Amino acid sequence: MPISVLGISAYYHDSAACLLVDGRIAAAAQEERFTRVKQDERFPSHAVAYCLKEAGLTIDEVDAIGFYEKPLVKFERLLESYLAVAPRGLRSYLRSMPLWLGRKLWMADEIASELGTSKEILFGDHHESHAASAFYPSPFEEAAVLTIDGVGEWTTSSIGHGQGADLTMLREMRFPHSVGLLYSAFTYFTGFKVNEGEYKVMGLAPYGRPTYVHAIRDHIVEILDDGSIRLHLENFEFVHGLTMTGVGFEKVFGGPPRHVDAPVTQREMDLARSVQDVVEEIMLKMARTAHRETGSKRLCMAGGVALNCVGNGRLLREGPFEEIWIQPAAGDAGGALGVAYALWHRHLGQPRISAEKRGAWAPAEAGRHAQRYSDEMQGALLGPRFSDEEIGGWLRGKGIAAEQVARAELPAEVARLLADGKVIGLFQGRMEFGPRALGCRSIIGDARSPAMQSLLNLKIKFRESFRPFAPAVLRERVADWFELDYESPYMLLVADVAQSRRIPVPSGTEELFGIEKLKVPRSTIPAVTHVDDSARIQTVRRGDNPLYYDIINAFDALTGCPVIVNTSFNVKDEPIVCTPEDAYRCFMKTEMDALVLESFIVLKQPASPSSEDRRTLQSQA
Ligand SMILES: [Fe+2]
Repeated sequence: MPISVLGISAYYHDSAACLLVDGRIAAAAQEERFTRVKQDERFPSHAVAYCLKEAGLTIDEVDAIGFYEKPLVKFERLLESYLAVAPRGLRSYLRSMPLWLGRKLWMADEIASELGTSKEILFGDHHESHAASAFYPSPFEEAAVLTIDGVGEWTTSSIGHGQGADLTMLREMRFPHSVGLLYSAFTYFTGFKVNEGEYKVMGLAPYGRPTYVHAIRDHIVEILDDGSIRLHLENFEFVHGLTMTGVGFEKVFGGPPRHVDAPVTQREMDLARSVQDVVEEIMLKMARTAHRETGSKRLCMAGGVALNCVGNGRLLREGPFEEIWIQPAAGDAGGALGVAYALWHRHLGQPRISAEKRGAWAPAEAGRHAQRYSDEMQGALLGPRFSDEEIGGWLRGKGIAAEQVARAELPAEVARLLADGKVIGLFQGRMEFGPRALGCRSIIGDARSPAMQSLLNLKIKFRESFRPFAPAVLRERVADWFELDYESPYMLLVADVAQSRRIPVPSGTEELFGIEKLKVPRSTIPAVTHVDDSARIQTVRRGDNPLYYDIINAFDALTGCPVIVNTSFNVKDEPIVCTPEDAYRCFMKTEMDALVLESFIVLKQPASPSSEDRRTLQSQA
């Protein structure tokens, strides 16, 4: 009988479940994809049910069940924080305590009852779960481990060392001093939603100047040589208030936060750039400390701040590590995966045979790009998949006209549509685990098109964005197109577009403001080039995702360009699609031109599929 471990994260942000069977990830998924509630924080019943079904197990056949953090310790932190600032924290205390007393504190009982089992629930530690998610599925036999996020129980950042199946925590930084909360404070102050808008701050930074760096260092955060930080708490509100920042921030930065509906000004751009620069400095210093403490040449990272791909790109270029691997589900969803791995190796005492030890991984070497590469994440493609039979049956049932294309012809067919300027919903293979779509639930387009950025934003995503889209590029061609020759399978590294692909921008471009600047092509792949010539890169290997690779390869054969646009298959404020039905609904709601559902292609034509379906979907939209 195989040995299985179920990991769960829930009740804070982005709930998820992960099932390991004999030490291999059988399934992992976020609850939001099933419930269609973005970043759903409720108990992940659907995700658990999916994981069990995928492995053909019942809950009582699972050998160990783990939850990714310790609710009692978190409760203690909340209580102590409130007491420390009483009575200033009273409002915030009254707001959050009933939830804790009524529900979160008794979590073992609640989890067991949600699962319908009397089995014991084991509790991991929040940052140890992050650390385990960073090290155990990485390719490395030995590595330094760095976790950085807002806060878990008390810890906000940790340094550890992984060796084989052992993972030792060496240092930690504790609440309220937190890099994640620092970034979130600026997310709030620049008028974006905390826990969601951090990406927008990072995307806004290239438009700004680092004019507030001194003010931040003087009044907001002290950065020590070892990368640990001390927040000037008198200027923050998150311990005792209901917001991140208060009058302290307003005094330092000369005015109130941007209202969510107010236009973004140069001030927000400069604030974004300044905090991004400061956070990069902290990340670099923390990495140097991790290097010094462990003596390792490799680094594994997780925690929400590890999704700062601009910072990650700098770490790779400037940091002391030769190799970096980042858990794709770096946020709290990945805690489900981390606690499952921690139970497998540490509670059940199972050995670990890393990809490096198996000979399935070889370090990057300058001038070579055919390294063997393998981690344990299976390309992060760990969610549901739907067969041609299921999809064909569903299409027929709905009376939707679709052409089934032989697998050998499919990549060229899709590449022709791309080269024709069409926007395509690509739904194939297993759904991605983590925040990024990686070619299985993606919208793809031609990266060479100067119109693609606006087109995708306005007609497909229904938003105006100052961020360019991300490129997906064949792994063996990445160095020809970007200043990078490294694995970035999970779109977690930012690097510049290669000098040879850039084109001179017309004079006067620098005077343009905001999105107008983004509309000026500055490379031969303008849809994916930011205003500072950078790009958030996904490298694609055939072994990870054969059809996706073949499509990009066919596009290259047709156009000489092995780069396409990849953005997540969803519209604003919706989770990424999960089922063919979700995909079709999103396709019909938007002005996408074609939908690929495994081997079926649905084209949008005036009368297609049935006018009745279209009316229903439009009324839903
Ligand atoms: Fe976390």
